[in-house]
Parts: sequence; C-alpha cells; structure tokens
Amino acid sequence: MSDKIVASIITGGGRGIGRAIALRLARDTAVLLVGRTESDLQSTCQEIRQHGGVAEACVADVTASAAAERAVEMARVAGWTIHNLICNAGIGKSGPTESFPKETWRQIMAVNIEGSFNFIQACLPSLLAAQQGTICLLSSISGLKGYAYTAAYTTSKHALVGLARALAQEYGKRGLVVVPVCPGFVAGEMTDRTIRGVMKRRGISAEEATQLVVRANPQRRIIPPEEVAEMVAFVCSGRVPSLSGNPLILSGGE
Ligand SMILES: NC(=O)c1ccc[n+]([C@@H]2O[C@H](COP(=O)([O-])OP(=O)(O)OC[C@H]3O[C@@H](n4cnc5c(N)ncnc54)[C@H](OP(=O)(O)O)[C@@H]3O)[C@@H](O)[C@H]2O)c1
Repeated sequence: MSDKIVASIITGGGRGIGRAIALRLARDTAVLLVGRTESDLQSTCQEIRQHGGVAEACVADVTASAAAERAVEMARVAGWTIHNLICNAGIGKSGPTESFPKETWRQIMAVNIEGSFNFIQACLPSLLAAQQGTICLLSSISGLKGYAYTAAYTTSKHALVGLARALAQEYGKRGLVVVPVCPGFVAGEMTDRTIRGVMKRRGISAEEATQLVVRANPQRRIIPPEEVAEMVAFVCSGRVPSLSGNPLILSGGE
C-alpha cells in the first residue's frame, strides 16, 4: 500500500471562499494554498495546523504558468499525491461596457480563465496518475446568466463552465471529475465590493444596496462561504462522480 499523502491544491486559498474551502478540505487531505498575499496564506495555514491539519503556502500569481509548476513541484517534494485541484482564485470588476478599460478586461480573463488553465495543465499528470482526480472550477451564477455591468466577469465565468464541460468529456473515462461550481452572492470582500459598486451606480445607501444583493437570492440571504466549501468537499469525496461536467448551482433558486 502507498504511504503517499493525498493532497488538494486551492488557488486563492488565503481568504474568502478559498479560505473556507481550505479549512474544510484540510479535514480530509493535506492542502497547498496558492495566492499572492503571504500573510493571508500563512494565517490560513496556521489555523489549519492548529486543528491538526497539514497545510503549506505557495506565494504565487496564478497568471504565471511557472507558478502552477512550482506548486505541483512543492507537493511532489512534500511527498503528496494531488487528488483535488480547486481553481478558486478570481477577480471581478463591474462597469459600463462602453467605457470598460481594456486592460481590466485582459486582467479578468488572465486571472479567471488562464490562471485556472495554468493550474489544470500543471496538475493533470498527477490527477490522471491517481485515476481519481477532482477539479472544481469556481465559476458563478454569472457563469450561467447574464448580468448588466459585468460583461468581463460574466464572460470569464461562462468560459469556466465551458472549460469544465470540455474537460469532463475529455477525461471522464480516465477517472477525472470536473465540476463548475456556481454560487450566487457569497459573504466576503468580493460581495462587499459589489455592494459598494451598486451604491455608487444607483446613488443609494449601503443598507439599500445590501438589500438589493440579498434579494437576488430567493432565500433572502447572502451565502456563507462555508456552504460553498461543504459542497466542494462533497464533490471531492468522489461519492457522486456523475456530477462531472454539470454546473453545480448554489443560489437558493433561480
Ligand atoms: N463572492 C461571491 O459572491 C462569489 C460568487 C460566485 C463566485 N465567486 C468566485 O469565487 C472565487 C473566490 O471569491 P471570493 O469571494 O473569495 O473573492 P476574494 O475574497 O476577492 O478572494 C479572491 C482570492 O483570489 C486570489 N487571487 C486573486 N488574484 C490572484 C492572482 N492573480 N494570483 C493568485 N491568487 C489570486 C486572492 O488572493 P491574493 O489577492 O492574495 O492573490 C484571494 O485569495 C472567485 O473566483 C469568485 O469569482 C465569488
């Protein structure tokens, strides 16, 4: 029997949804957290270790393909076998399309799409060798529906759904499960920024803008990141491989 340690790589694992996923997956596997802010990564690693988990940090920008190779090499040197890849690192910026800066469009595509592709390509050999790999791509409800003032973000999140569907077709017979995870508004900095954007665009108060965001969910709530983490852990458990290629919607209803 192999004495290798099963591991998960989580991009953007230092804060927000990625942090919640890291804390949850660390109950089942070793975790390697990737992100640009070392202090966030280290504080999440520390919390995991305090709870008896195994965690390492890889300070890197996902847009650099060498970063993904470095993360995979770190896992290999640690003696870990990568079973799960969670492409969670993502950015968003809203604004009217007619004046949207081209450079911001490019950054959103680079982080959300190319950053995911970099990690998928670097992890594929390990995932295929394990013959039971899981890839979760943090898309969004914006990966399935159009929203005004978010053309770049919406385009990038639709691309992740397409990417997951293509990978599910290509690698299903080799034991890979690929799931695009599509949450509605989740509590954290990204949703706080959305609320500030709504306040500015509509000239309304923080309370009014928060209510608009809350009402986007039929359950009238902003989703806790731990709910997304729980669903990612379920997908990674491999208990329902037929989830592969299907968007997993966490929105309280559409
Ligand atoms: N919040 C929501 O309502 C919501 C809803 C649906 C889907 N999502 C998706 O869920 C994911 C996480 O969202 P969140 O709310 O947790 O956002 P967040 O709080 O802004 O966190 C984003 C994470 O991505 C990392 N990141 C950003 N650019 C990076 C880069 N170039 N290289 C490496 N890491 C990078 C950030 O770390 P550093 O800045 O330190 O690099 C951070 O850890 C995103 O893909 C987002 O689109 C969010």
